[in-house]
Formats: sequence, C-alpha cells, structure tokens
Amino acid sequence: MTENEAPLGVGIVGVGGIALSHMAALRVSTRARLVAVCDVDAARASEVAYAERCAGYGSAEELLADEAVEAVIVCTPNMTHEELGVQVLEAGKHLLMEKPLALTPDGARVVADEAAARGLALAVGHSHRFTDQSLAIREIIDAGDIGTPQFVRVVMNGGWIWPGWQSWVLNPALSGGHSLHNGTHLVDMASWWIGEPATSVFAVGQHATSEALEIHDYLVMELGFASGASAVCEISRGERPRSASYLELTVVGTEGVISRSWDAEGVLAWTDSGLTAWGVDGSGSRTFARELDAFVAAARGEAEVVPPVSAAIHAVDIAVASEESLRSGRTIEIGASA
Ligand SMILES: NC(=O)c1ccc[n+]([C@@H]2O[C@H](COP(=O)([O-])OP(=O)(O)OC[C@H]3O[C@@H](n4cnc5c(N)ncnc54)[C@H](O)[C@@H]3O)[C@@H](O)[C@H]2O)c1
Repeated sequence: MTENEAPLGVGIVGVGGIALSHMAALRVSTRARLVAVCDVDAARASEVAYAERCAGYGSAEELLADEAVEAVIVCTPNMTHEELGVQVLEAGKHLLMEKPLALTPDGARVVADEAAARGLALAVGHSHRFTDQSLAIREIIDAGDIGTPQFVRVVMNGGWIWPGWQSWVLNPALSGGHSLHNGTHLVDMASWWIGEPATSVFAVGQHATSEALEIHDYLVMELGFASGASAVCEISRGERPRSASYLELTVVGTEGVISRSWDAEGVLAWTDSGLTAWGVDGSGSRTFARELDAFVAAARGEAEVVPPVSAAIHAVDIAVASEESLRSGRTIEIGASA
C-alpha cells in the first residue's frame, strides 16, 4: 500500500440483506469506498445510493459501465451468481462473490476460469473465515498445540430468519438447497481446519418447521477426508425459540482439543500442558471489514484471495453432493479438487 493510494472503487450488485454488512465495512475502510450500487428493484437502488452518497443503477450492465467501479461485490440470490460473476469479470472488474460461488460444480469452475484467464481477483464470501474465533482456532492449529486435527464438529443452529414463504432461499432451484445456501460455510470451515478437502459426504435432513418446506431447514453433513479425518457439520434454521442462535465448534487433534461451547464467550484449548482460554467471539463487526481488507489486498496484487478459489469450488462440490446424498440416502464420494 502506498501513502497516496486512492481507495479501490467498489460497486455492489444487489442491495438486500447481506449488502448491509458489506456497506458497513466499506464505510469504515480506508482502502476501498462504495462508488455505486445497483438492484433490479431500481427504487431500492436509488434509496441506498442516496443514503450512501454513491451512484445508483437499475441493472448490473449500467453499474459495470461506470468507470469508477474497479471491483464488485455481488450480493444477489444464489441462482444469479454464475451469470453475474462472468459478467463482472468480462467487464474487467475484480469480484467478491457472496457464497456460494455458483449453484453447480461446473458453474463454479466457469467463474473461476474466467477470473484466472483475466488475471482478476476472485474472492468468495466465506465470511466465517474472518471471525475472531475461527481465526483463533486456525492459529491454535497452526501453532501445533493440538497436534494433527482428526475430527471437526461445527454446529450452527438457529431459529427461522427468512422473510416469508415466498423467499427465494426456500426454493431449491434458486438457492441450491440448504447444503448450498448455508452448508458451504460449514464445509469450508471444516476443510480449512482439517487442512485438506473432504472426499465424501453423507447427509440427513429434516423439514423441521413444516413438511411443506422444500429445503431441509435442519441438516447434518458428515464429511470424510483422505487422511482418515472426519467432520460433522450441523446447520439448522428450524430451532425453537425462533430467536435461538447458537454455535458450537470442536476440533479434536492427536494432542489436544479446541472447543467453543454454545454458551461460551471464547475458545478453550486443552492439551497435556493445561487449559488455555481465548477471549474471542464470532459476532464481531470486524468480520466483514476483514473480508473486505483481504479482498482489497488481493485486488491490489498484494496477497492471495481468502479463501483460495479452489476451496470455494470445493465447498460447492461437497454441497451439491450433500444434496444428492439427501435424495439418495447414500454416501457420495468426491474426487479431491482442492
Ligand atoms: N456471508 C454470509 O454470511 C451471507 C449471509 C446472508 C446471505 N449471503 C449471501 O448473499 C447473497 C444475497 O443474500 P441476501 O440475503 O442479501 O438476499 P436478499 O434477497 O435480501 O437480497 C438480494 C437483492 O438482490 C437483488 N437482485 C436480485 N437479482 C438481481 C440482479 N440480477 N441484479 C441486481 N440485483 C438483483 C434483489 O432485488 C435484492 O434486493 C446470497 O448469495 C446469499 O447466499 C451471505
């Protein structure tokens, strides 16, 4: 970073729910600034543009034609990601794509190939990589304190958060099902902490809120790894009370255990030399600011993207296989791709 560097001009495509977190991060960034937003709901785009003092457009085409836009954060529903991702990259802009990278393994590779061919940064919004607790866990693993990770358990359970029965998330054709929609976060964390891509997945799910649901609002994915390690990823949006939101993280290594229990403030590491407590949490406003910083560094050519594109593709591979496992009741094997 040079002292007189101008902030990276960022445009946001789709200004619904998650765009608010990205806009909050942009407001406090010294290295990037929001220059334009667009939404198919043009009135919404204008309203946000007025509040954020940036340009507002009714289509991605118009936003991409704006020369002040050097990089784009795509915050639209999952089924739009492949097409919009390619469009952004074809316009020569760096891309931070909200997760999942695409709805299909082929689609994920199409976007990744486009970025590689054009030498543009492609980051995918696996935001849980940037929470204080996730980073602390990775740091404890990297320090060798618990030996080699053998088992990971990620539980991310909560109540109903989706607006109504018309929400696109509830339509598997639009969201990819719960494995794609939220499962990719958990798969990414498990593979990152184990330190290798998963090679198999077995999934079971329930329609806990209503049998009328087409996605599994309660979902458990069991991952197998070539080294013999394994992981259980449990994600739910069907808990009671509806305001429930709890998280449990466990990494069992050959020499110790890292644990973040659901009602805890921090992370504990048990090894033969004792117990260490890390006062970190996952709520932090720093999460999206860190994700943005990492993206800007990659766009400026100072660092690799986080997570690596191969990991984002891997998360799609596993999630799509998980949906297949839900349908077939079988374990699905996946060729190592990350
Ligand atoms: N990282 C996270 O923790 C996290 C959390 C929530 C959502 N997400 C992801 O963010 C994305 C958006 O989710 P959301 O909850 O904000 O959805 P949302 O429905 O609240 O908002 C999506 C917005 O995109 C607009 N839109 C749809 N198609 C468009 C297009 N072609 N061009 C421009 N605008 C378009 C809609 O009008 C809407 O305003 C999804 O991919 C989702 O998986 C990530």
